[in-house]
Amino acid sequence: MPEKETKQEKKWWKSAVIYQIYPRSFSDSNGDGIGDLKGIIEKLDYLKYLGINAIWLSPVCRSPQDDNGYDISDYQDIDPIFGNLTDMEELIAEAKKRQIRIIMDLVLNHSSDEHNWFKEAKKSKENPYHDYYIWRDGTKDVLPNEMRAAFGGSAWEWVPELEQYYFHQFSVKQPDLNWENPKLRKEIYTMINWWIEKGVGGFRLDVIDQIAKEPDRFITSNGPRLHEFLKELSKETFQKADLVTVGEAWSATTELAKLYSNPDNSELSMVFQFEHICLDQEEGKEKWDLAPLPFLKLKEVFSRWQRELYKKGWNSLFWNNHDLPRIVSRWGNDTTYRIESAKMLAILLHGMQGTPYIYQGEELGMTNIRYSIEEYRDIETQNLYQERLEKGYKKEEIMQSIYAKSRDNARTPMQWTNQKNAGFTDGTPWIKINPNYQEIYAENQVKDPESIFGCYKKLIQLRKEYPVLVDGEFEMLWKKDEHIFAYLRRNKETEIVVICNFFDQTISCKIEEVGDSLKLLICNYKEIQQPFTLRPYEARMYWRKRQ
Ligand code: GLC
Ligand code: CA
Repeated sequence: MPEKETKQEKKWWKSAVIYQIYPRSFSDSNGDGIGDLKGIIEKLDYLKYLGINAIWLSPVCRSPQDDNGYDISDYQDIDPIFGNLTDMEELIAEAKKRQIRIIMDLVLNHSSDEHNWFKEAKKSKENPYHDYYIWRDGTKDVLPNEMRAAFGGSAWEWVPELEQYYFHQFSVKQPDLNWENPKLRKEIYTMINWWIEKGVGGFRLDVIDQIAKEPDRFITSNGPRLHEFLKELSKETFQKADLVTVGEAWSATTELAKLYSNPDNSELSMVFQFEHICLDQEEGKEKWDLAPLPFLKLKEVFSRWQRELYKKGWNSLFWNNHDLPRIVSRWGNDTTYRIESAKMLAILLHGMQGTPYIYQGEELGMTNIRYSIEEYRDIETQNLYQERLEKGYKKEEIMQSIYAKSRDNARTPMQWTNQKNAGFTDGTPWIKINPNYQEIYAENQVKDPESIFGCYKKLIQLRKEYPVLVDGEFEMLWKKDEHIFAYLRRNKETEIVVICNFFDQTISCKIEEVGDSLKLLICNYKEIQQPFTLRPYEARMYWRKRQ
């Protein structure tokens, strides 16, 4: 249906760049050490100047904060640490004035155990809310099965009053919701429509591939009814407005991504898939089991996603989020070549097809941290530490994994200035600030077009000015080259060529093979001195008219 496709191609989110805010670490307006909605409102002009089109807000709903808001106790209220509903309405309105849309984080796989539904559900097996969750009869100490929770321990928790276990894929304070129950689904749709009426611009759906679980068959991701549920969800809510929706799907393959993000708009706009970002761990093991990044494999993975989803789905492009370490420390170089490598990674990603996401501080080249174990705040990190100690791992070995992969790497406060607490708060920050805020901070970068911020700003502009960045077909160049990540984008009229040296050595570049008439759009060194040589982490994006 070509007509439908044209309509789909014009979707606003295809040329948009989305910025993720982790509210507790962004900007604190009242000195309690925790970032909040008023703090975000104060920084909207900064985001407008960067040029982004939408903000994905990590959860701000009412929550006991066991997993920093990913444990929601009231989906239709704001947690007092962040403000209140009036602040939220003000944020939506103030953002709108600046043509910025607000994307809410929907946590629909589980709720908090302090949600009213769960409090009711626990009262008796006959309670109307009981079936909103997943229960199994049993006896104490005899678990229904061996399923494990993502944050450690069994996925089953015993409730003595009911003589039943409930199922939780994450912490014990995050009981899984039972999507098999149509009443629960309906209640979720009503809640989502209420947010749509408040004027939000879209939703990010937390671990959405895990909602259709069948614990007795050890099925968590991609349950048989998943796409049926998603189609119903989309029809009852998202399709009523011009929204962007992005599902978090750790299990997504290209085939599955095409189902989720089919241009017929029956499910979601796109998914976050993690194939590229899981490459630096031992195969079949956990993220904590570190392995060097296989560079050729990285190229193969990106290339496959770009080509497979072309006209059949839509990619999201990201290096970072609140669960991942900082990319410049991870696959760039956060010492000698911090600036060059941060820009290289940005150019490499933003030249591809899909919707780019920038995670707060990425536009400044913020880095990982190394704290002592007591200074980490993340439940996953703390549990991992205990679990591996008990299993007999050496402390130093565990700490190496934590330095590399702890989610707190991404959660240290935004570095706004080189003044007290990096300008994040007047009080005591909820988590220690990265000590390098004296050197890495927004205030000086905003003024400097040569800064990492300047590079991101330029890349966002280029996406608006060169439609080929949005619609062009992708072709990987020099697939077997072990240092260079290079590709071509091509539509009817024009071509883009991106060439990146992924490493810290100087190497020669076969640029003549790409042809001539190239106009340089952006690069990460002041000027190109020798077209045939790539300095450490050198990256260039060229453009030309097709002959
Ligand atoms: C997602 C979130 C993560 C959270 C988990 C459980 O993976 O991104 O932060 O801990 O879901 O809700
Ligand atoms: Ca605050």
